[in-house]
Amino acid sequence: MARPFYVTTPIYYVNDVPHLGTAYTTIVADALRRYERLRGRDARMLTGTDEHGQKIERAATAQNQSPIAFVDQVSARFREAWPKLLVEADDFIRTTEPRHEKLVQSIWERVAKKGDIYLGEHEGLYCFGCEEFKTEKELLPGNVCPLHQRPTERLKEPTYLFKLKDYEQELLDFYDAHPGFIQPETRRNEVIAFVKGGLRDLSVSRTSFSWGVPVPGDPKHVMYVWFDALANYWTALGEQQSKYWEPNGEVVHLVGKDILRFHAVYWPAFLMSAGLPLPTKVFAHGFLTIDGQKMSKSLRNAVDPVRLAETEEIGGPDGLRYQLLRYVAFGQDGDFDHRAMIERYNADLGKNLGNLLSRTLGLCAKLAGNKVPSYQPTDLEHEFEKQAHALIQSAANAWTELAPHRALEETLALSSLANQYVDRAAPWAEAKKGNQARVDTTLALLLETLRVLSVLVWPAIPRKADALRAQLALAPIAPRVGNDSWPTKLAFDRAGQALGAASALFPTVDKDGEKALLERLQPKTEGAPAAPAAVPGHPSAVPAVATIPYEQFAAVDLRVGLVKTATKVPKKDKLLQLEVDLGEEKPRTIIAGLALSFAPEQLVGQRVIVVANLAPRDFGKGLVSHGMLLAAGPSEALQLATAPDTAAPGAKLK
Ligand code: MSP
Repeated sequence: MARPFYVTTPIYYVNDVPHLGTAYTTIVADALRRYERLRGRDARMLTGTDEHGQKIERAATAQNQSPIAFVDQVSARFREAWPKLLVEADDFIRTTEPRHEKLVQSIWERVAKKGDIYLGEHEGLYCFGCEEFKTEKELLPGNVCPLHQRPTERLKEPTYLFKLKDYEQELLDFYDAHPGFIQPETRRNEVIAFVKGGLRDLSVSRTSFSWGVPVPGDPKHVMYVWFDALANYWTALGEQQSKYWEPNGEVVHLVGKDILRFHAVYWPAFLMSAGLPLPTKVFAHGFLTIDGQKMSKSLRNAVDPVRLAETEEIGGPDGLRYQLLRYVAFGQDGDFDHRAMIERYNADLGKNLGNLLSRTLGLCAKLAGNKVPSYQPTDLEHEFEKQAHALIQSAANAWTELAPHRALEETLALSSLANQYVDRAAPWAEAKKGNQARVDTTLALLLETLRVLSVLVWPAIPRKADALRAQLALAPIAPRVGNDSWPTKLAFDRAGQALGAASALFPTVDKDGEKALLERLQPKTEGAPAAPAAVPGHPSAVPAVATIPYEQFAAVDLRVGLVKTATKVPKKDKLLQLEVDLGEEKPRTIIAGLALSFAPEQLVGQRVIVVANLAPRDFGKGLVSHGMLLAAGPSEALQLATAPDTAAPGAKLK
């Protein structure tokens, strides 16, 4: 029997929320696990959250929370989001769990025992305001911290270093001996070139903050967050390591291309040093854009995968999974386009698969007493079977090759084949001629093809696959270890069985429905072609929005703010950095997209309206905004919402 299969997603940072990028990997992992389960393998999926490090510590502070309270809260959002996308992970690991901390320390000890860790120094530019080392890229000329507007200092901190350099050759030998270890091929070549370019020893501990796993024997140090995080794949298995990890299990790490180096260079080197087997495969996928735009933080927030999964008009969670699995080539960059999503839903799921089901059941009700009829094939059916078997096989090959997009292409090709076949076999015409044997054969073939399709689509659209099966009076799919339930051939063993009740599986969306969906779903962020363009001077062109209860409005804390200082943000031509007095102990830093409409000095002294209880927004490079100003108009001609000079800073708007 095939060995156990263990698929992992990266563990996600808790200074972000689940977004379409992280949903993507998680859905692919779930689909692969489901496919392997169908094949009778013992398949396990792991996901989780990466909760240590200075960035997380600071995000917690920004929200006035202790790190642990903060990570508990955000980690829960991930844990709750995935099942809504029909993801059934077998385990969810958090790096703050004792089961992880204990075992990651054991890996450290093994590496230290091997003599691969030594105490050295980490030298860098340190900002005392931020309490962190900065890279030169993050700083202004003169190595000035953009947030604190004062020079950073060159500082040395003691750090443990891992002898990564010593593993150069061993890594190259391993890649050579295991050509499938890094995929796709182009990524493999990049990693090999990187290692051949020479590795440097890696700093693996920090002393300047404490939110991390203590280094065994020297608790002033906490582990570098990647040493801690990468180990999750192994620590999460606990007692099950001997079953799912190499050499007994096949271990597949799915990662985004941005974090491939950590997984394909550092992680294997740590494992080699610890004397542990390496994973089987690291597969790097591409980056998604949304409606052609890079996923900025605001776009990530605006396009919520859970909201998409709740949109039943386009198939709910199954619909979302289908789009991501079928229309992003796994391994390449892809675009998630809202309009295309609706068109593809209509074409593939509505008019192809959904229509095959409804026309078959309609014909069965009319011409075969709503039962599975008997099968007496002719050349037409033999030809169909041959083609169907080839498609079933190539769909299986594609899943095995980690190419869900191709697997679904082959699967939908089978559905198209059946739709073409029914047109050729024309059972309605045969019925008129009184040729019941032909009618029966045609319907039997269609019903069996639909049964097969329900299995083939299950890894991608499990809920709809079971709904399809219910209409055929078949039990939901429940894979069993050791039992390969992937069809190899069409099987005609259900003659005489009754069929279930028919209903539209994927009702198509008409033009009006499409318009309404786009208005609801497309992000209304700057630059998105989403909302219908407002006619200047005609505010009535603003689309109507759903009403909210008063409590929802009351939850928004609007305050009068007095702008104390305003400066341009280097290299960001739309942004200004403001210090705004809200009657609090210290003025707040607010980053506002006002630079195309105002010179900084025009703003100083203005009384503005501030959304004061918005979660801080991180613009990167140390820029964090702690509020938002209200304004109206296009971004190059904004008008500020202001308060009269008599309003006190901090006054609440009601
Ligand atoms: N915590 C680390 C991973 C540690 S694994 C031992 C991390 N977390 S992350 O939350 O920042 O990112 C997780 C994943 O999201 C990465 O694989 C990254 O490639 C992916 N994506 C982030 N933006 C993405 C897109 N726009 N498109 C597709 N995936 C994207 O890195």
